Amino acid sequence: MSSTGRHGAVRSRSTRPSSGETGRHAVPTDRRPAAPPVPVQRVPVQRVPDHRVPAPPAPARRPPAPPVPDGRAQRRRPAPPRVDAVVAGEDLVKVHGRGRGAVRALDGVSVEVERGELVAVMGASGSGKSTLLHCLAGLDRPTAGRVLWAGEDVTRLSERRLTRLRRERVGVVFQAYDLLPQLTLRQNVVLPVEIAGVRPDREWLDTVLEVLDLASLSGHLPRELSGGQQQRVAVARALALRPDVVLADEPTGALDAGTTADLLRFLRGCVEGLGTTVVMATHDPLAAEWADRVLLLHGGRVAAELEEPTAHECLDALARVRRPVPAREA
Ligand SMILES: Nc1ncnc2c1ncn2[C@@H]1O[C@H](COP(=O)(O)OP(=O)(O)O)[C@@H](O)[C@H]1O
Ligand SMILES: [Mg+2]
Repeated sequence: MSSTGRHGAVRSRSTRPSSGETGRHAVPTDRRPAAPPVPVQRVPVQRVPDHRVPAPPAPARRPPAPPVPDGRAQRRRPAPPRVDAVVAGEDLVKVHGRGRGAVRALDGVSVEVERGELVAVMGASGSGKSTLLHCLAGLDRPTAGRVLWAGEDVTRLSERRLTRLRRERVGVVFQAYDLLPQLTLRQNVVLPVEIAGVRPDREWLDTVLEVLDLASLSGHLPRELSGGQQQRVAVARALALRPDVVLADEPTGALDAGTTADLLRFLRGCVEGLGTTVVMATHDPLAAEWADRVLLLHGGRVAAELEEPTAHECLDALARVRRPVPAREA
């Protein structure tokens, strides 16, 4: 979806965000005027160059497609998924339940996330954030549409194959950290590796603990850690098997403003220091401010897409969409 492509791009932490660390509201910057919400999905968004950071070298792209004589026919066909999308959803529809009580939680959502991107999914409660994340993580099957991991359609895989692939490719972080209380920090982080029955990559685990500033706490039990530290352990655990993408559902939902900023700085550290791709659901504009891109969901649809928004811009965009009322199935 993003038209920029930033493979291997190293973005200076100092560029994000303008106010997240202080927990105060963002002061509008002179970066650009607030973009109006984009009413339809998959509208390419123009990235405004950040003059403070030297632009990374343009990544090698596929050659442009030859011109198609019949433009209308071309537009009707869905665009093929980009091969460089780490995770993508194509026209995702998810209906929870049946009959009169059925809820259309996703109503044709398309999203592509590139390697090394931190994408925030925002929206009011009930707008479909968790459902989208669960579908992208392969934890829930969409009613219609496809989920692709590195170009591979995983929607129709058997449960067994999907579980194995998910272990290799996807790390999930939930709002409740779900650490095992009797295990030390390091044992909690290594647990998925042991469950997967693969040899632990000690060097990688050490790097993860280092980047997340947890190395000195390795022997501590969860009860000896603060909420922010426990959430970072949950992130480290999601990274243990070196997934292509980390999907985090409201990872800062249980944290105060200070620890929220800490965790988001570390998530950015994962993106910039480890090359991880992160998709994070949040309803907090201060959290979304740390993202490269924000998808704003409304009633199960992408109502807007914002590039590097400030918290104010997120709030503005949220204010423009009304509180969602999920469509009841007929
Ligand atoms: N398992 C479920 N069964 C029935 N309805 C559900 C289920 N999960 C979510 N929903 C409904 O789908 C809509 C979207 O929910 P959700 O994805 O959790 O939104 P969000 O994470 O943005 O709050 C809501 O109306 C919610 O009540
Ligand atoms: Mg949710």
